[in-house]
Amino acid sequence: MSILVTGGTGFIGSHTAVEMIEAGTKVLIVDNFSNSKPAVLDRIFRITGVKPEFVLCDLCDYDALEIVFANHPDIEGCIHFAGLKAVGESVQKPVEYYRNNLVSTMNLCQFLAKYGAKKLVFSSSATVYGKPASVPIREDFPLSCTNPYGETKLVIEYLLRDLVVADPEWSIVVLRYFNPIGAHKSGLMGEDPKGIPNNLLPYVSKVANGKLPYLHVFGNDYHTHDGTGVRDYIHVVDLARAHLDAIRYARERSGIDYINLGTGCGYSVLDIVHAYENATGKKVPYRIEARRPGDIDECYADPSKALRVLGWKAERNLEDMCRDSDHWQSLNPDGYPEKEEA
Ligand code: WQD
Repeated sequence: MSILVTGGTGFIGSHTAVEMIEAGTKVLIVDNFSNSKPAVLDRIFRITGVKPEFVLCDLCDYDALEIVFANHPDIEGCIHFAGLKAVGESVQKPVEYYRNNLVSTMNLCQFLAKYGAKKLVFSSSATVYGKPASVPIREDFPLSCTNPYGETKLVIEYLLRDLVVADPEWSIVVLRYFNPIGAHKSGLMGEDPKGIPNNLLPYVSKVANGKLPYLHVFGNDYHTHDGTGVRDYIHVVDLARAHLDAIRYARERSGIDYINLGTGCGYSVLDIVHAYENATGKKVPYRIEARRPGDIDECYADPSKALRVLGWKAERNLEDMCRDSDHWQSLNPDGYPEKEEA
């Protein structure tokens, strides 16, 4: 049997594929390389010794996706990472975001049902909590979104909830990620955003390694210990490993469940800057600037349900996250190569 990993050459998908392969799970990666590169497959091979089965396919292409399922009757379930995920871009291109993220998921669910593979782990986001009334955030907190990207995640969660009501044979685990950062300890895989990074850690890594002059700190007048935004940063390898537990959980039951994946620790932007400098010995110059529209003061998880239900908790600390990010950035200053490696 195999697990279909959509978006499996992306940041979290590729790290999850490595952990699954190393745990002895057969994976089939499907990706359209809209936000990743073929070289990721070579890096997965260099880390694990296994070149994962791969199909180039856009999940929005109904006929192409059917062929994937018809050619792989051993698919027993799916971890669904594929989707557009840039908050700012989603504000500029809402139709593209709704179309891509919703149509791809609807096509996927239709074929998972048709081919008897009704186990799904869905990559959702803490963004569905909007601006929480308090922290830490539990899974039963109110849901709301402030941008089209987050709205697509929320609408997909509603779609999956309704799917389980219509067909109780489904087993769906919705994982709400907080802020994934870090990289594989080998330095062979990591976060490779296109162009100038939107997110904090890849931007800090580029500043520390001389690819950008300084960090723009978006606001220092938030209601936090030092005025800068507080988030729950989680090592991408910890996050990846949670998916193994989520697949096992999906096999054991039916219905739908929702699980926060965070450390339960909130760190500010300046905490990150200082942690990165301490972990690497490199300087991260910064300038305090205006708030970024849509940002919230604080967001961090209550991770107790993940431990109770999955038997999972984050093991890597902030120093690990900064050190591994820097190792990836210093070995790959321009990210993954455009061409596949020998
Ligand atoms: C973190 C903190 C910024 C960049 C986003 C998405 C979320 C999820 C994770 C997909 C904030 C500050 C950032 C910079 C800064 N993605 N910052 N200068 O906004 O918490 O979450 O990524 O699921 O959906 O919303 O992450 O890394 O962009 O920002 O000061 O150059 O760093 O203001 O306080 P965010 P982030």
